Amino acid sequence: MTAMVDVAGLSVAWPGRPPVLDGLDFTLAPGERVGLIGPNGAGKSSLFLTLAGVLPAAAGAVRVVGEAVRPGMFNPAVGLVFQHAEDQLFCPTLAEDVAYGPRNLGLSEAEVEGRVAEALAVCGLDALAERPVHRLSGGEKRRACIAGVLAMRPRLMLLDEPSAALDLRSRRALIRLLAGMDQTLFVSSHDLDLVLDLCTRVILVDAGRIRADGPTGDVLGDAALMAAHGQETPAALARRSPPRRAGGAGAP
Ligand SMILES: Nc1ncnc2c1ncn2[C@@H]1O[C@H](COP(=O)(O)OP(=O)(O)O)[C@@H](O)[C@H]1O
Ligand SMILES: [Mg+2]
Repeated sequence: MTAMVDVAGLSVAWPGRPPVLDGLDFTLAPGERVGLIGPNGAGKSSLFLTLAGVLPAAAGAVRVVGEAVRPGMFNPAVGLVFQHAEDQLFCPTLAEDVAYGPRNLGLSEAEVEGRVAEALAVCGLDALAERPVHRLSGGEKRRACIAGVLAMRPRLMLLDEPSAALDLRSRRALIRLLAGMDQTLFVSSHDLDLVLDLCTRVILVDAGRIRADGPTGDVLGDAALMAAHGQETPAALARRSPPRRAGGAGAP
């Protein structure tokens, strides 16, 4: 089966600066939902930009959806949802914004309209199609970005901090939406409860390297590992862990 992401010896660096990430090796299988965690500045967004072909790899091999990434070459099979919705939404209305990508693929107008309607429906935004994008709430903007990417029918979606700045209800709606998708999802997040709900596997990056790569419960539940990299085991998982001290306050 073709891996959705396949990197070997990958070094991610901004021009003229030492590598942010170095010697990365991992693959993502089709349909996997993988969380990418690590402290601020660890290189999560930079890695996504490299996978999307925006930031050239400084060394190593990068393949996404079965093809070598060529910097500057847009691959419609890969959808990147930016951390800041404002970086992504720019058309006057929501429907126009979602149509922008598919229209650029050279699809017929009927096909474009079909894809826009489908993506808006999946994201629960059909009633807002004609709304100016600057009049959408934070949660609606986030889902609008996802709709714009979905309309391209990517096989791999890279979501950078998708729940940042969302209120509880918008966050739940987003998690439900993502959980129902069959695309391969690679999700960077500080929201470890979202990662726990959504992802079966987690990659932890810190100080240039992958520090852990394994089942979500194993990585997030390893309190010592998490603490060593400035992270905290989510409360939902800590409650499930066996008590550390016999008869301690944490005993069920
Ligand atoms: N556009 C850029 N130009 C130069 N350096 C950048 C740029 N974006 C991020 N960096 C640097 O790359 C490093 C990793 O940042 P980033 O990938 O944003 O980390 P994270 O997403 O994990 O918080 C940081 O040191 C940051 O300053
Ligand atoms: Mg980031």
